[in-house]
Amino acid sequence: MKSKARWTRSWPLALVLAALALSACSDPNLPQNTFAPAGPVARKQADLFWPVFWVAVGVFLVVEGGIVWMAIRFRHRRDRDRFPAQIHGNSRLEVGWTILPAVVIAVIMVPTVSLIWDLARPAGAGALNVTAEGHQWWWGFRYTDEDMRTSYDQPIVTADVLVIPVGRDVSLSLESAGGLIGGGPEQADYAVIHSFWVPRLAGKQDVVPGRTNRLVLRADEPGTYWGQCAEFCGLQHAQMRFRVVALPQAEWERWVANQKRPAVTPTDPEARRGMDLFLNGVSGGGQCIACHAVGGTEAASPAGPNLTHFADPTHECFAGCIWETSDRAALEEWLRNPTQAKLGSKMPDYNLTEDEIDALVAYLYSLT
Ligand code: CUA
Repeated sequence: MKSKARWTRSWPLALVLAALALSACSDPNLPQNTFAPAGPVARKQADLFWPVFWVAVGVFLVVEGGIVWMAIRFRHRRDRDRFPAQIHGNSRLEVGWTILPAVVIAVIMVPTVSLIWDLARPAGAGALNVTAEGHQWWWGFRYTDEDMRTSYDQPIVTADVLVIPVGRDVSLSLESAGGLIGGGPEQADYAVIHSFWVPRLAGKQDVVPGRTNRLVLRADEPGTYWGQCAEFCGLQHAQMRFRVVALPQAEWERWVANQKRPAVTPTDPEARRGMDLFLNGVSGGGQCIACHAVGGTEAASPAGPNLTHFADPTHECFAGCIWETSDRAALEEWLRNPTQAKLGSKMPDYNLTEDEIDALVAYLYSLT
């Protein structure tokens, strides 16, 4: 009776927990829904997942059903003080439950292994080559093809958002980029394992210091596909997000042409003042250009996010895509206190004055 009372008391709690868990699925957009594949790689993976899943459901029902049936059928009864018949060994049963799982696994193995080989094939000719760099805690993207070099002879580089053309294979080289931050030996700690994951476009791939992993993906439709670091990589692992923006051909070409141009030099006096602070240092002595690059200026460090086209409409989000780029208040707060806004962030707090923050924000928003 006592245990029944406990159960009666705990089921509302179980309901609340179940409702909370289900509420995670309530967003109608589900930007990271791996069951809504939007490209051939993710689709092949989903097409393999479902048959394997249903086979697993069948095995689960047979095994768990058998356990429950036996637990009820052979349970202890108060009025029965003898043991049921004790059986030792049944060759036919044992051979059966050895062969049957082996057959099930052999059947599942055929499409699994062939898909592993299929996905391991390098992208065909005509693929767009991009190196994705995992930093603590944001992603950088370097476009390594010859025809993706800028007018100032650097590769196109973006941060937080990978822009791709629709319907074309993108061959990603995945690197952990902590080593890019020069300096003391403690910097080597920044090179940690990440995992690159855009659920609607392709499965996860680890990003390991000192080696290059590869992943091919493709988007069938224009749109924004959300990504997420899928390997615990430190304090802000959960805030190491990114987006893939897939553009139709004409928009893609416009985007590439704009990316090849150096950053605009602002004419607005406030933004101009921000540029001076950015390039020459702020009142507290901090140097933005110690870590950031702005194409066409002397700012060229690859350690932090490249800001050349910070305000381009495709650059939807910043600082690991925690905030929308259009969110001016968030951008101000980020500059005001980066280590608090994103706990453990490598962006130092330069004790900027409100006046300096206004000027720097104006400069960043001028970088279209
Ligand atoms: Cu990078 Cu988790």
